Amino acid sequence: MRIVTSVAAMQRLAKRWQHQQVRVGFVPTMGYLHAGHLSLVREARRIVGPRGQVVVSIYVNPTQFGPKEDLSRYPRDFARDQKLCRAEGVDVIFAPKDDEMYPSDHDGAFSTYVVEQTLSQGMEGASRPTHFRGVTTVVAKLFNLVLPEVAVFGAKDVQQAAVIQRMVRDLNIPVKVVVAATHREPDGLAMSSRNKYLSPTEREQATVLSQALQLAKKSVKTKAVSSARLKTQLEQFIASRPAARLDYIELFDPHTLQPAAKAASGTHLALAVFFGKTRLIDNAAL
Ligand code: PAF
Repeated sequence: MRIVTSVAAMQRLAKRWQHQQVRVGFVPTMGYLHAGHLSLVREARRIVGPRGQVVVSIYVNPTQFGPKEDLSRYPRDFARDQKLCRAEGVDVIFAPKDDEMYPSDHDGAFSTYVVEQTLSQGMEGASRPTHFRGVTTVVAKLFNLVLPEVAVFGAKDVQQAAVIQRMVRDLNIPVKVVVAATHREPDGLAMSSRNKYLSPTEREQATVLSQALQLAKKSVKTKAVSSARLKTQLEQFIASRPAARLDYIELFDPHTLQPAAKAASGTHLALAVFFGKTRLIDNAAL
């Protein structure tokens, strides 16, 4: 397994693979890897095959964090990430440095961003106004550096996946975006690097997100229901966990991400819940 930290070296390698017609599968991450990330790596490997190259990027992207968010305390453990990647058969870890990703020199500071203007408005975008601009910018840059045929993203970040698919379509980026199923702990909690922040009590109560999804699935099983009424029911359910503070619940069309007045089988539900300073998200098709 190779570790590449310079953008020039990554681009050279990617161009060589392109020339040799080697298939490249890419899993962008912010590190502190867990079983969910490793399932994305396996999906990338499944697609490009044993002779393809699987690249995992590990980069805590500063531009997707708001000024009051957890950039400085975001968990990092590069030694552990390396071990996990090696064991999973990753070919290359790309771990670029901030000053190369966001250069600032005598010509001036970094000043070019990629902005998706529709799908990134609600939900995560409403709670975290500059988040998706940071995500689309860094993902476009990483695509330019790694030149993958396919990139695998997790379904836990459903809005992120939709925004990236839109960016790829709108900007004719020649990358196939694959969205792989959310990986869950045995009690249903969606895997996330941020779960590490939870106190034992918060961790116990954090199952409320996946339980809310189950509850909603049951509610729409036999007939469509009013989204407003279902939201109230879910709000009450979440409030029954004293450590939980709801950020948002949204019922929406999975393609347009437009809010749905009625919730039925197939309507998508996403929610974000704070436990102390930790914000967890989850989603599912009902
Ligand atoms: O989903 C993530 O971990 C990040 O948003 C991503 C896609 C790696 C971009 O920094």
